[in-house]
Amino acid sequence: MKLADKIGNKSARVGIVGLGYVGLPLAVAFAEAGFKVLGFDTQQKRVDLVNQGKSYIADVPDTHLSSALDNDFLEATTNQSKLKEMDAIFICVPTPLTRTREPDLSYVIHEAEELSKYLRHDQLVVLESTTYPGTTREVMLPILERSGLKGGSDFCLAFSPERVDPGSKNYNIKNTPKVVGGIDPKSTEVAALLYQQVAEAVIPVSCPEVAELTKVFENVFRSVNIALVNELAQLCQRMNISVWEVIAAASSKPFGYMPFYPGPGVGGHCIPLDPYYLANKAREYDFHTRFIELAAEINEHMPYYVVSCIMEALNTQGKSLNRAEILVLGAAYKKDVGDVRESPSLKLIQLLQDKGARISYNDPYIPDIQLSHGSLSSVDFTEEYLSSMDCVVIATDHSCYNIERIVDEAKLIVDTRGVTKGLVRKNIVRLGE
Ligand SMILES: NC(=O)c1ccc[n+]([C@@H]2O[C@H](COP(=O)([O-])OP(=O)(O)OC[C@H]3O[C@@H](n4cnc5c(N)ncnc54)[C@H](O)[C@@H]3O)[C@@H](O)[C@H]2O)c1
Repeated sequence: MKLADKIGNKSARVGIVGLGYVGLPLAVAFAEAGFKVLGFDTQQKRVDLVNQGKSYIADVPDTHLSSALDNDFLEATTNQSKLKEMDAIFICVPTPLTRTREPDLSYVIHEAEELSKYLRHDQLVVLESTTYPGTTREVMLPILERSGLKGGSDFCLAFSPERVDPGSKNYNIKNTPKVVGGIDPKSTEVAALLYQQVAEAVIPVSCPEVAELTKVFENVFRSVNIALVNELAQLCQRMNISVWEVIAAASSKPFGYMPFYPGPGVGGHCIPLDPYYLANKAREYDFHTRFIELAAEINEHMPYYVVSCIMEALNTQGKSLNRAEILVLGAAYKKDVGDVRESPSLKLIQLLQDKGARISYNDPYIPDIQLSHGSLSSVDFTEEYLSSMDCVVIATDHSCYNIERIVDEAKLIVDTRGVTKGLVRKNIVRLGE
């Protein structure tokens, strides 16, 4: 039976490689759509947890996982030889940066090498990992063709970016349009047909390069706009104008404007990393992506800027940063998620410690954090604890924080997220005001 027919009657077996923030929700989405899904991960612990119905990704509730398992639609394994039994394989492995901020495609390359051992006729391979334009065709395709099979005629190959917004209550795989670009029209068509089973809208594009660049461009767009508003926040602070009031007023314009908010920097797996993938690739074409690099520079400077704000705020109270007792609220890179990857809070804590401050932190989603000089555990903060601190820094605006209570008890608050806006108190120093 042809792959398109197997998709039509839902007998196609779906393999998801990399059961992380991207792969696990995708695996559950296909299982819920009635496909038999086999998840692959190199971490035995993750595989065991999936098979026990225990989710480690906040966006995937245990109930969804266990109902997929109970109905025999989902299973996980570390055994890559089972890839040959799959009809469609989605690769969702990490694409980090090296220490020198260059693209690290080692996970993608390793997986393509594994896959080339098991590839067979009429399989579909889709790369979902974020990467620079050219990865699918220039990196993946030649490795997969070591199998002796030809891309396009013997197997299909496409790129489709994951656009998941972790922690979002409004958007998920189903209602976020899926962009798909194959190495040939058949690959695009088959991949689009499969995605139509889990997503309400599929946007086919002419080639994988367009799909790859679409994803990176979306993240560059965010990075640049966040940098712009971070710069404006610093200017507003100097001019004694509230950036929060400016943003609120500008947001009243019904066209041509979209609000972005300042903060202690950018974090997560995407915005701090993906722009470098493009900037790096651009150099191959003798092209310097100045906007991208400037935005990264401004955003990466923000934790340093927040440290200077804290230092000044303590100074107005006759205190120094050295030996100050500081409670940092929020270690996650954004509200209501348990993800510390590239979190500006970690950078901020590190910088404060380097200057001799005594740091404790609270994050209801993150019990421990690893820093270069050791680890810290999240503290419960009582009213007494809050009032004993020299300064409380709101680094992540988790919804569960009772801001009024925190403001009432703390001697000094440095608010990097604007959650205290509207409160007029002498003990609050807000970023961008
Ligand atoms: N997290 C996000 O919000 C997000 C959003 C859009 C795109 N992305 C992109 O998706 C990709 C995956 O990101 P993530 O956040 O899901 O990462 P993750 O670290 O949460 O998950 C990746 C998983 O892949 C596994 N893995 C690594 N090599 C493997 C291999 N050879 N075989 C099987 N499993 C392997 C890891 O053990 C891990 O469980 C990245 O390219 C990322 O940039 C992430």
